[in-house]
Amino acid sequence: MRVGVPKEIKNHEYRVGLTPASVAELAAAGHQVFVQTQAGSGIDFDDQDYVDAGATILPDAPAVFASADMIVKVKEPQPSEIALLEPRHLLFTYLHLAADKPQAEGLMQSGATCIAYETVTSPNRSLPLLKPMSEVAGRMSIQVGAHYLEKEQGGRGVLLGGVPGVAPARVAILGGGIAGVNAAQMAVGMRADVTIYDISNDRLAELDMFFSSQIKTAYASKAAIAAAVSKAHLVIGAVLVPGAAAPKLVTREMLRTMKRGSVIVDIAIDQGGCFETSHATTHDDPVFVEEGVIHYCVANMPGAVARTSAFALNNATLPFALRLANMGAEAAMAADPHLAAGLNVSGGKIRHRAVAEALGLPLN
Ligand SMILES: NC(=O)c1ccc[n+]([C@@H]2O[C@H](COP(=O)([O-])OP(=O)(O)OC[C@H]3O[C@@H](n4cnc5c(N)ncnc54)[C@H](O)[C@@H]3O)[C@@H](O)[C@H]2O)c1
Repeated sequence: MRVGVPKEIKNHEYRVGLTPASVAELAAAGHQVFVQTQAGSGIDFDDQDYVDAGATILPDAPAVFASADMIVKVKEPQPSEIALLEPRHLLFTYLHLAADKPQAEGLMQSGATCIAYETVTSPNRSLPLLKPMSEVAGRMSIQVGAHYLEKEQGGRGVLLGGVPGVAPARVAILGGGIAGVNAAQMAVGMRADVTIYDISNDRLAELDMFFSSQIKTAYASKAAIAAAVSKAHLVIGAVLVPGAAAPKLVTREMLRTMKRGSVIVDIAIDQGGCFETSHATTHDDPVFVEEGVIHYCVANMPGAVARTSAFALNNATLPFALRLANMGAEAAMAADPHLAAGLNVSGGKIRHRAVAEALGLPLN
């Protein structure tokens, strides 16, 4: 297979689809890898690292797309990249189509086969290619939240862990999945007062066992969320309904009950966000204030810690990339229903039920 790695062009995105170590694995399996010059420069991989791993360096994205059959990226293709996709291409990257109809329509028009990292599944019903970035975003959400709670940042002037004699900040985490647990681990490490809300009773039981008395758990009823939001200094939005837009759990009315200078971090913003008042922001301008509450809603949080994130992502994607390259998309998906669950678009049609429903488009 001819595999292509363009340089990411989304704002402040420094990760790269394949690290030199991943390129070496593909090259050892007999595949040709074409990497756009400087594709990894943002995280200290230079062209020579890729050449040493067996890649061919090309000058720009059009050359990479023209030379390769399979494109491995990080973020969803931008309009200039969608314009380079052809029906022969296999695109393997994050897509997050449920909240992005224009992109979905662009990919349908391209005719390409598009496998989304975030809907590939695993036998234990988890999402193995979302997991590493959820781990990063979850852990980051607490350091970001702690930062914006500082007075200088417009925050309430509260230290997450408190000090002896002064109570710690109250952190409410909505959604106790991968991102939520990683947020809780960091918040517990900083000695905050942490409660996780989820609608899965099995998950709440697991969290209770895992964290023991370090956190509280609560069923995510509307009433419980309203009460939590009114008291919290920091609310983390980390819910997920796979492939679908995030449910809006926190209304503007609930937000009005929060104290001025409190902070929300809406990790789920890449699926539309779970706060009514959220809209996506970028690392350039990450926060805005609504109802006196600081909103951090960066859709590509892991981009800020791009080197850690690129290694973590490659650890997860490489086995699938190798299978796609070795067997071709059709055979690889026929052999593995979990990889097949990643198929979002092909032949001009939406192939994923939840994505089709979220977009109001017909399924195949
Ligand atoms: N902003 C970013 O940079 C970034 C990075 C990585 C992941 N994410 C996003 O973070 C979100 C969480 O991802 P994850 O991997 O932790 O998902 P996950 O599937 O591991 O966990 C989601 C949890 O939400 C719970 N949930 C679902 N509906 C709920 C509801 N109505 N109320 C309360 N809980 C509910 C589920 O039971 C589950 O425990 C996703 O939207 C994902 O796309 C964003």
